Amino acid sequence: MIKIKVCIGSACHVKGSRRVVEGLQYQIAERKLKDKINLGGVFCMGRCEEGVCVTVDDKFYSVAPDKVKEFFETEVLPLVK
Ligand code: FES
Repeated sequence: MIKIKVCIGSACHVKGSRRVVEGLQYQIAERKLKDKINLGGVFCMGRCEEGVCVTVDDKFYSVAPDKVKEFFETEVLPLVK
C-alpha cells in the first residue's frame, strides 16, 4: 500500500491543497487504484514555504495544484505494482 499524505495546514491550504487532494482522488479513482493507494491529510509539516507539501511513503514533494496529474504519473504510478 502506497501512502500519500497531503498537508492541509493553513499555508498549504492557501496554496491549493484542496485542489491537490481532489486531483489525487480523481487520479486514484480513474485508474482504479483505491486498494493500492492510501490518501490522507496531515497538518503542517513545517515546510510551509514549499507547499503544497505532499509525501509519498515519507518522501517529500512540493506539488502545485495544476501539476497533480504530472506528479501522479512520474512519482506515484511507478511505485504501483
Ligand atoms: S502548512 Fe503545509 S507545511 Fe506548513
